[in-house]
Amino acid sequence: MQRSNIVSAWTRQVENGQKPDSSDLQDHLTAIHQENAGFTEALASKCRDSNGKNSYELLADVIDQDHHSKVLDLACGSGVLLDLCNKRFDSKVSFAGIDISNAELKLASERLIKTDIVLHQSMAQGLDFIADMSVDVILCHWALTLMDPIIPVLKTVKRILKHKGIFAAIVDGDGESAPGYREIHNIIYTHAQRKYSNYGTIELGDARVRKTDKLLELAGNIFVDFDIKISPFNLSFSATPEILARETAGFFYASFVLSAEEHCLMLRELENHFFDRMENGESCFTLPVNLLMIKEAR
Ligand SMILES: C[S@@+](CC[C@H](N)C(=O)[O-])C[C@H]1O[C@@H](n2cnc3c(N)ncnc32)[C@H](O)[C@@H]1O
Repeated sequence: MQRSNIVSAWTRQVENGQKPDSSDLQDHLTAIHQENAGFTEALASKCRDSNGKNSYELLADVIDQDHHSKVLDLACGSGVLLDLCNKRFDSKVSFAGIDISNAELKLASERLIKTDIVLHQSMAQGLDFIADMSVDVILCHWALTLMDPIIPVLKTVKRILKHKGIFAAIVDGDGESAPGYREIHNIIYTHAQRKYSNYGTIELGDARVRKTDKLLELAGNIFVDFDIKISPFNLSFSATPEILARETAGFFYASFVLSAEEHCLMLRELENHFFDRMENGESCFTLPVNLLMIKEAR
C-alpha cells in the first residue's frame, strides 16, 4: 500500500515557488523511500521491451564476465539488479551497491543475505572509499535523473572506472515517444499541481538528465574521448485497469506528495483512463526509457 502525503524540505520549497537545493532533495528522497522502500521495482520489473526484457535485464546485459570482474550498482535501491546479476554471472564477478536510503538498503541486504555482495550507505557524489580506476562496470537504474548536483556524480564515475570500463544507466526517455505515456504523466501531475502548483516546473534532480541532447552534452563535457551513446526503448506492461492504475501511480514520485483523498481521486481517474482503452479485459502502459552507455573510445 503506497504511503502518500509526504512533506519534506523539498515540498516546502516547491510550495513557496523556491528552487530546492541538494539537501532539500536528499530530505525528500529519504522521506519517500523511508515510507515506500522497493517501490521502483514493482513496476520496472514488469515493463518489458519487444524482446521481453525489462530495464534491469537491459543493464545486466552490459556485463561480460570474460572481461569484467568488478561491478558497482550506483543507487542500488532494494537490490533487485544486484540479485539478478548475482544469479546470472558466476562467482568470478564481484558486485557491490551503494545508496543513500537506509530503508532501501535494508531491503537489499535482506534480499542478498546469502551472497558476498557488499552494500554501502553513501551518496553517489562522494565515493571516496572506492579507489581510482578500480571498477569494470558501473550500472545505474532509474536514479541518475534524481541526482543533483550531477557533475560530481559523473566525475566520480569517471574516476573509479577502469581503463575500458563501462558506465550504463537507465534514465527517463522521451515522454512523447511512448504511446499514452504523456496522458498518464499529466493525470498524475495535475493532481500533484492541485497541492503544489509549481510541481513539474520544479522537478527532482537535474533536468538535463531527462533530455537526450542535454545529457549527451553534459556527459561529453566530462567523458572526453569516450564513446557516449543513448538508446531509446519503450517498455510495456499489460494488466487490468485496477492493477495498472495502482502500479503506474506507485512509480511516479509526484504521486507520493498527494493527500490520501487526492490519491484516491488520482487512482480513480487512472483506472477510468485505462478502462476506456481496455481490450479483452486488459489495458497497456508504456514507459519510455533511455539507455545511456559510456565507454572509452580506445
Ligand atoms: C527510483 S529509485 C531506484 C532504485 C533501484 N536502482 C531500482 O531501480 O530498483 C532511486 C534510488 O536512488 C537513490 N538515490 C537518489 N539520489 C542518490 C544519490 N545522490 N546517491 C545515492 N543514491 C541516491 C534513492 O535512495 C533510491 O534508492
